[in-house]
Amino acid sequence: MISTCLDLALLCHPVLAFLSIQRPKMHAQQSRWQYFLLSFLSLLAIRYASTSYTQAPQDIISDICQTKDQPNPIASLYPMNATGTLNGTISVIPISLKLARELIPSQYGILEHAYRHLLPSFPKDMYPAILEAMHDHEVQAFGYQIPDFSVRPSPTPQESAQKNKKRKNLTHMQRAGISFPFLDLLHDNTTSFKWAPSLLITASHTVALTGASDYGTHTFPATFSPPCDAYTPVPAAKLPHTTSFSARSQHPHPAAISTVFAPTTHDIFPLPFFANVTNQPTFADGKTCDQMIRFFNTSVTTAPNRIESVSGTVKATLFPFSEEMVWDHVLGLRLDTAFVENNYLPCENFRGYDG
Ligand SMILES: *[C@@H]1O[C@H](CO)[C@@H](O)[C@H](O)[C@H]1NC(C)=O
Ligand SMILES: *[C@@H]1O[C@H](CO)[C@@H](O)[C@H](O)[C@H]1NC(C)=O
Ligand SMILES: *[C@@H]1O[C@H](CO)[C@@H](O)[C@H](O)[C@H]1NC(C)=O
Ligand SMILES: *[C@@H]1O[C@H](CO)[C@@H](O)[C@H](O)[C@H]1NC(C)=O
Ligand SMILES: *[C@@H]1O[C@H](CO)[C@@H](O)[C@H](O)[C@H]1NC(C)=O
Ligand SMILES: *[C@@H]1O[C@H](CO)[C@@H](O)[C@H](O)[C@H]1NC(C)=O
Repeated sequence: MISTCLDLALLCHPVLAFLSIQRPKMHAQQSRWQYFLLSFLSLLAIRYASTSYTQAPQDIISDICQTKDQPNPIASLYPMNATGTLNGTISVIPISLKLARELIPSQYGILEHAYRHLLPSFPKDMYPAILEAMHDHEVQAFGYQIPDFSVRPSPTPQESAQKNKKRKNLTHMQRAGISFPFLDLLHDNTTSFKWAPSLLITASHTVALTGASDYGTHTFPATFSPPCDAYTPVPAAKLPHTTSFSARSQHPHPAAISTVFAPTTHDIFPLPFFANVTNQPTFADGKTCDQMIRFFNTSVTTAPNRIESVSGTVKATLFPFSEEMVWDHVLGLRLDTAFVENNYLPCENFRGYDG
């Protein structure tokens, strides 16, 4: 768009120069010529710079991104599906059942018996909201963005390289959000669904932003720190291996999440609980559901010391909470999991689904 205007300006420039210099009573013709030559060259330079800039915003972002994440271990197992890895911290934010009932739309019952079955000693009158602060890495196909293998069967090597470059650089993003699991979307008092009312998402990743808002999730284009990893060490922290992760948006409304976690020897919630909540079909407005199959048995998760129990502080200014919330002694896990994602499915498909 910008380059088109500049092209037009460049094209008209000699004509304008010619017309004004042809005008009578024109003095100092030489300096006029110099002026037009100079402005022509400046326009040319701007045009050139705008081309190299607009061609590759994703490249610019990814060039400064050097992630520490391991590659996607299941890409070749499911070549026709959207797969990737999610590295980050998943933690349990206990809120009162009363607050949960106020925040969660009233048509969705809370399956208290389902989470008590997994967490028998979870405090009475409390509900486990879930914070996920993740780096989404090496996504091989993004939701509806199906690779068009069928259109042209044999692209040239240059075309493939170009396409791979484009696809590759949409393959990394960050997200943070608080979701509400164990909800009775189908009114069967059995199947657990997870409500994801809002998400902070990497501002440049328009595909992910659109993808999430199509579910009805309030999406907030955000800036993350660190920009390309799941978390980053906090220098001079009191506890060893303390890490932080934060996200902040200005538009459309200010929204933010920040976390600081350190390893703990505390008894934390069991792994099957995390496997259960991360594998519940997710919805926002309830029109369609997202199936995220999270694998806890691949090399990115099972290598020794890959799963760490952590305790820390979470601050959030995010819908549906009406004010800034601060929670201390939040327990969770730092881990990486591979996933397969199936998008925009009828929620009804999941009646009786148990992962
Ligand atoms: C997850 O991210 C952390 C922080 O960048 C990194 O140290 C760790 O190696 C990553 N895990 C995997 C399996 O890639
Ligand atoms: C992969 O995608 C196909 C077609 O959308 C779907 O039927 C299949 O269940 C997906 N595989 C997995 C493991 O989810
Ligand atoms: C694309 O982005 C990834 C980071 O996700 C980076 O590793 C890769 O080098 C980038 N590719 C190009 C061609 O810029
Ligand atoms: C839902 O199921 C649980 C466990 O089976 C049961 O205790 C509860 O009474 C049921 N609730 C309703 C509304 O049927
Ligand atoms: C890992 O788990 C998935 C489903 O949870 C299963 O289909 C797959 O066979 C498992 N792989 C291994 C190596 O156990
Ligand atoms: C989660 O746990 C509940 C209660 O045990 C169970 O009914 C449900 O099938 C599990 N869901 C998944 C996705 O694992």
